[in-house]
Amino acid sequence: MQALASLVNHGAAVADCLQVRPGRTPEETSLLQREVLDLKKARNAIILAHNYQLPEIQDIADFVGDSLGLSYQASKTNADVILFCGVHFMAETAKIVNPEKTVLIPDANAGCSLADSCDPVALRRWREEHPDAYVVAYINCTAEVKALADIICTSGNAVKIVERAPKDRPILFLPDENLGQWAMEKTGRKLDLWRGACHTHLAFTAETLMRLRQQHPGAPIVAHPECIRSVRLLADHICSTEGMMKFCKEHASDTFIIVTEQGMLHRLRRELPGKIFVPAPTRACACNDCGFMKMNTIEKARDALETLSPEVQLDAEIRRSALLPIRRMLELAA
Ligand code: 13P
Repeated sequence: MQALASLVNHGAAVADCLQVRPGRTPEETSLLQREVLDLKKARNAIILAHNYQLPEIQDIADFVGDSLGLSYQASKTNADVILFCGVHFMAETAKIVNPEKTVLIPDANAGCSLADSCDPVALRRWREEHPDAYVVAYINCTAEVKALADIICTSGNAVKIVERAPKDRPILFLPDENLGQWAMEKTGRKLDLWRGACHTHLAFTAETLMRLRQQHPGAPIVAHPECIRSVRLLADHICSTEGMMKFCKEHASDTFIIVTEQGMLHRLRRELPGKIFVPAPTRACACNDCGFMKMNTIEKARDALETLSPEVQLDAEIRRSALLPIRRMLELAA
């Protein structure tokens, strides 16, 4: 009975969210996917896709994952071309670790409100005023900001990185205030927090989540650490998007409430078809899309491989400086 109610509710949620998707028949989508795969072969390319990408992109990617997993994949590929289906800072990270490769992003305007919240000029000034500080930068920042950091972290390893930060130096965590707060709560370390936030995760509220929980009693709530504290307090598990896959796979429950961007639900449903995943609503919608993530379409992915553009380009000096804190993360978190 509960499973039926979940399915009905889940169906309504999906219908709401699909209204914003472009109309295309399944045959047209398959044709476009075939074109992308043919071009991928011709270009000796690899397709990396974040868990928030559209289903038709996730389904043809060589690797779908979180920021940490994608960083590892980018650092060990032998392909000549990386088609990075995610937001701009993610494709930039792939370029930082692969300067000799062509890194493409389907839509160069796929930005990130969180990355935009940290201005490198302001950070440089802060660093000058706090010369002994150790700067932990969440990977959701620009290459210029990464170049000013001591170490990078992702939501998958933030706690580990903060735990291992020097004990004798003040620590600045940027740009996500909520992830920083969560890392403080988990580690007991004192952090100075940059006041940035992800507009998509900010849209989840404790009120809407409590209402949903009443409809799915017993379903574990799985939330991303970029959510605000009152939402995090309601969660049974807080983790990165890859952590969500692992948690839901290993947990005995058949129904889960997922508090993150709704692209995640496609991967969960595809890989765990026996389970039910209910998207957490916002005040405005039954689920939650990041408009930037969804700027990448299958047509733009095809065009990028055909024209080898838009290509991610980086200043050589910034790239070299940004590589060091990424390497420290990859070594420390391995
Ligand atoms: P992860 O996929 O690394 O958890 O991060 C997602 C993200 O960028 C949320 O805004």
